Amino acid sequence: MTKRILSGVQSSGKLHLGNYFGAIRQHIALQDEGECFYFIADYHALTTIQDAETLRANVHDAALDYLALGLDPEKAAFFRQCDVPEVTELAWILATVTGMGLLERAHSYKDKVEQGISPSVGLFTYPILMAADILIYRSHLVPVGQDQVQHIEMTRDMAGYFNQTYGEVFPLPEYRLDRVPKVPGTDGRKMSKSYGNTIDIFAEGKVLKKQVMGIVTDSTPVEAPKDPTRCNVFQLYCLFATADEQAALADRYRAGGLGYGAVKSMLLEKIDSYFSPARERRKALASQPERVEAALRRGADKARREARETMNLVREAVGLGRYRGQ
Ligand code: ADP
Ligand code: TRP
Repeated sequence: MTKRILSGVQSSGKLHLGNYFGAIRQHIALQDEGECFYFIADYHALTTIQDAETLRANVHDAALDYLALGLDPEKAAFFRQCDVPEVTELAWILATVTGMGLLERAHSYKDKVEQGISPSVGLFTYPILMAADILIYRSHLVPVGQDQVQHIEMTRDMAGYFNQTYGEVFPLPEYRLDRVPKVPGTDGRKMSKSYGNTIDIFAEGKVLKKQVMGIVTDSTPVEAPKDPTRCNVFQLYCLFATADEQAALADRYRAGGLGYGAVKSMLLEKIDSYFSPARERRKALASQPERVEAALRRGADKARREARETMNLVREAVGLGRYRGQ
């Protein structure tokens, strides 16, 4: 059986290096390894974005980003989450077999509450919708960054509760992490849109320079030897550098005489050259919105067919639908 691979990214702001090295790079690499479903999680984004124009623009931007980075809509079904509304029906059904305790343990929910966000019911039940996203395509593998691992474990729990209650419908999905599953942000915490500590994939010129120069470093003087493993700039540089380049820079840190400003300039150059082909592709695509829309529609058609098939099985299993007599 071909392996079903699925992942989503929220359209809640500009995509950043954490999204790329944690998730998007794997999504693109896996296009040839199985049957892939990738979507832009606009229903999920409603838990943070409540302005229609902004949401629509963000979804379009995320689609341009993915296509420019190499997602091939001929290989992977690429679509908007909202174009498969069946997923909200499955979320409801999963909610009826899921205990409150499971959701109360979710780290990402607890983090948001700690940040002072007053939670909506939608934010609390976010993991159920995410489980529905995964299970509705009966996915086997979910490539994500470290922060999503708990959500995949919760998805396995929900699939288990459902299967135990109604019979085997869902395979239990596994997560897949890339080489750097947690990319640090400019302040050393996890890079995240919600922390405002990102370096954006498609930032250029002054904007990009400001983000890179804003990386927080300690106050060790230029002449002093430095520990590369404790430096954010070095960690980020390693995302782009070969093993030899990494070793050479680590030696220069330890020798002293290297200032953080110089390393930031090296990082800036790496980012520019790594993403420059994608930036060119993105500019070309931005002038053809109808091509982007056509790709998303085609992806949605395929995804929706699969989702409907699963929902037929689910409705049958739980007893929704017409009475057929004894
Ligand atoms: P954000 O935290 O910026 O809102 P998302 O939650 O939309 O990002 O994440 C989309 C994908 O990118 C997920 O698979 C997530 O695990 C991954 N990801 C996000 N931030 C990072 C990071 N700093 N390092 C590694 N992966 C990340
Ligand atoms: N919660 C994910 C994130 O913030 C996005 C997402 C929604 C997702 N549904 C998914 C990821 C299903 C993987 C599978 O990044």
